[in-house]
Amino acid sequence: MIDTNDTLGHIAATHPASTLVFLRHQLDFCCGGRQRMADACTGAGLDPAKIAEEIATEEATRSPERWDERPPAALIDFIVSHYHEGLRRDLPVLLQAAQKVERVHGQKASCPRGLASMLEQMLDELTQHMTKEEQMLFVAIRGGGRGNAVHMPIRVMMQEHDDHGESLRGIREIATGFVPPPEACATWRALYAGLEKLEAELMEHIHHENNVLFPRALNA
Ligand SMILES: [Fe+2]
Ligand SMILES: [Fe+2]
Repeated sequence: MIDTNDTLGHIAATHPASTLVFLRHQLDFCCGGRQRMADACTGAGLDPAKIAEEIATEEATRSPERWDERPPAALIDFIVSHYHEGLRRDLPVLLQAAQKVERVHGQKASCPRGLASMLEQMLDELTQHMTKEEQMLFVAIRGGGRGNAVHMPIRVMMQEHDDHGESLRGIREIATGFVPPPEACATWRALYAGLEKLEAELMEHIHHENNVLFPRALNA
């Protein structure tokens, strides 16, 4: 049963099937995870009771891992092997596709000019961010660092997550909500489909850190 007065981040952590529903309705459960679900829905013109129903339907068909009930070290393994490796694999490919689209279709009004440089900057920032997590914060949490010992690095990582959220909004805007124009070639279409997937994965990634891993490290 979903309590619509609960925050998006806490619902996403305790009812993991909800993240698909939140993504579907563009409700920000990662950087905007502290918002109450009822407020977020009202703000977006959605009925909170309907969204709660959708989550229940989603939960009836699949039950993703409850990472909030697993040891932090297992969650770190999952974050690194799934999200970090996924970004290192996929983002350079999308950057190349964006460069090609801008090079070949730069004269068309619908061309997402500037997208490649945004992706290049994002790749740079995310690479540095993930290295800091893997080499410092995650090592500290694995070693039993809790509370004040990890408070500062967690604050810095969360600020950087806000910046990543801002970058995602900019990318979605320049890529016209990931809906390709009728004249888009196959690369252009694949680029927008890939970016939409990247957005969903990065939101889930940030959610697993902000709403599941970090609160456990801070409160343990
Ligand atoms: Fe991460
Ligand atoms: Fe992160």
